[in-house]
Amino acid sequence: MRKFPSWIRVPVVFFIIFGAVEYFIDSGEQPAFIEYPAVLLFLLLVLLILIAIEAIVGALENVMLHKLDEEAKARFLAEKENAFKLTWLQDTYQKLLGQKPIEQEGEIILDHNYDGIKELDNNLPPWWVYSFYISIVFAAVYLLRFHVFDGYSQADELETELADARIAIEEYKKTAKDLVDINTVTLLTDAGDLTAGKTIFQTNCVACHMADGGGGIGPNLTDEHWILGGGIKNVFKTVSEGGRSGKGMIAWKAQLKPSEMAQVASYVLSFQGTTPANPKAPEGDIWVEENNETTDNVVTD
Ligand code: HEC
Repeated sequence: MRKFPSWIRVPVVFFIIFGAVEYFIDSGEQPAFIEYPAVLLFLLLVLLILIAIEAIVGALENVMLHKLDEEAKARFLAEKENAFKLTWLQDTYQKLLGQKPIEQEGEIILDHNYDGIKELDNNLPPWWVYSFYISIVFAAVYLLRFHVFDGYSQADELETELADARIAIEEYKKTAKDLVDINTVTLLTDAGDLTAGKTIFQTNCVACHMADGGGGIGPNLTDEHWILGGGIKNVFKTVSEGGRSGKGMIAWKAQLKPSEMAQVASYVLSFQGTTPANPKAPEGDIWVEENNETTDNVVTD
């Protein structure tokens, strides 16, 4: 480790400790040092101690150096010289610049002289030259691909992205059943949904509507008369927002999720046409589904 200079040693050790802390502390989505401020404090302390150790070791080395005789001193310094240097990085950097070292500048100086200002005939830096070549190749490929062989246009790109987005939205809607509201709710016919609706109905609604929907405190749900409107949208709305104030039908949206309201509303509509044991007299108007292709009696006025 002593081979590396302190400005490499300290960060490396620090990040190893940091990584270990993040690995071992379970902090959910957030990094541990944000989730638990104590961790941040601990990491700061670690950093401080690392720097302190470096400072102490440096100071000790200095003291030691003063005590050494000349020969030992020279040996020690030579060893230090040999220590890790970023030679590779420096070499590559120099190569990419393509400059002549200052000592050799005499070879490339141009022989004009403008009031003492002279000009060097340096090569173009290789990083620039190669980037330029690459851009030429890129341009040729691009030209052929999009202007000669008719590649996709921006409009096509937009179309594909929109199509992808539509698929993503569909996927999302499948998993997010609770997105239904009064405008998007549809009659659920799936047996699973209806069973779930039945359970919800039996837990919350039978006290007033009876298990068979015949009615009690609440109106009969099996006939085609509706006080607040029939059809899935109206029923969903009544369940969600409640009935007329003071009648006893509360807004269930506080207790049921949108998906559950859709299920129980669909279950309620499955009572249509059944004959309950104790049917309550019809209340409200006969509901006729409008603009519904599946029913024969579409009313048009
Ligand atoms: C405390 C008694 C009570 C409970 C519990 C209750 N309701 Fe009601 N419900 C009523 C009353 C009263 C009305 C009539 C509201 C009105 O006249 O505005 C009603 C109306 C309705 C209507 C509209 C009927 C129509 O003719 O328009 C539907 C649908 C309905 N309830 C479904 C449910 C569902 C589903 C549940 C369970 C989640 C439920 N109710 C729980 C009392 C209740």
